[in-house]
Amino acid sequence: MLQRIEISQVGRVYDDGFVALAGASFDIRAGSMTVLVGPSGCGKTTLLRLIGGLDHPTSGRVIFHGAAGALQQPRTAFAFQEARLLPWRTVLDNVALPLELAGVAPAERIERATAMLTRVGLGGATRKLPGQLSGGMRMRASIARALVTAPQLLLLDEPFGAVDEISRHALDDLLRSLWAELAMTVVMVTHSIVEATYVAEQVVVMAPAPGRIVAQFTPSFAHHSPLLRATPEFAAVNAEVLRSLGEAMVGAQR
Ligand SMILES: Nc1ncnc2c1ncn2[C@@H]1O[C@H](COP(=O)(O)OP(=O)(O)OP(=O)(O)O)[C@@H](O)[C@H]1O
Ligand SMILES: [Mg+2]
Repeated sequence: MLQRIEISQVGRVYDDGFVALAGASFDIRAGSMTVLVGPSGCGKTTLLRLIGGLDHPTSGRVIFHGAAGALQQPRTAFAFQEARLLPWRTVLDNVALPLELAGVAPAERIERATAMLTRVGLGGATRKLPGQLSGGMRMRASIARALVTAPQLLLLDEPFGAVDEISRHALDDLLRSLWAELAMTVVMVTHSIVEATYVAEQVVVMAPAPGRIVAQFTPSFAHHSPLLRATPEFAAVNAEVLRSLGEAMVGAQR
């Protein structure tokens, strides 16, 4: 059983010599919700790929700790800003695809994909093609596809960046409820400070040149409901995150 992910002095220098990430260190508790924020180019996607095992650090390590020592990469799923659905497959067949690739029998994959689509609010759209969905619906399908294999680790790179603000709030609420229900570890990248403050248990603030971690926050609210976003309590935490991001930018420009 995964207990925590240790990001230990992780650095990534790309082949052209560019230092995208320098000595990043922090812990991610298993079952937690961590959000990475920071200006464009500060290494968020780079770090997410390293956590997901899509790339390897050039220094330091990403360590998956279990009770009895280090573990292999846990079952990991990704979702990105674009839904990346196959346009010629129905929504159901798109969501069932990871199960098909894993060799799950047809009846079971249809059952599991249908259940996940229902869970994300797309139970009525299973036979539609991606081109017949709204942007928000496409993202729901993309999340369903990521979750259908029951990942232990879900990595999201600006997943809701391309949808309108109202849909985005609904998707943030959906993400939080899925996270609570499915007991998975989530790491999400976003450009939205409001989204980070609302969704995260742990906000990790990054700065560029070289990419690094400059602050960490653990937003904790007495009542987590959609109206939280309109409270002074929320605004205060949000301002704190915004301030640290501003300070990081000023530091980077010096
Ligand atoms: N394969 C690569 N080779 C060289 N440099 C790269 C490569 N991939 C990314 N970079 C550089 O590393 C830095 C960090 O990139 P990364 O994609 O991690 O940033 P980001 O924080 O995700 O930015 P954004 O918010 O715009 O998505 C950028 O300056 C980018 O140009
Ligand atoms: Mg990125």
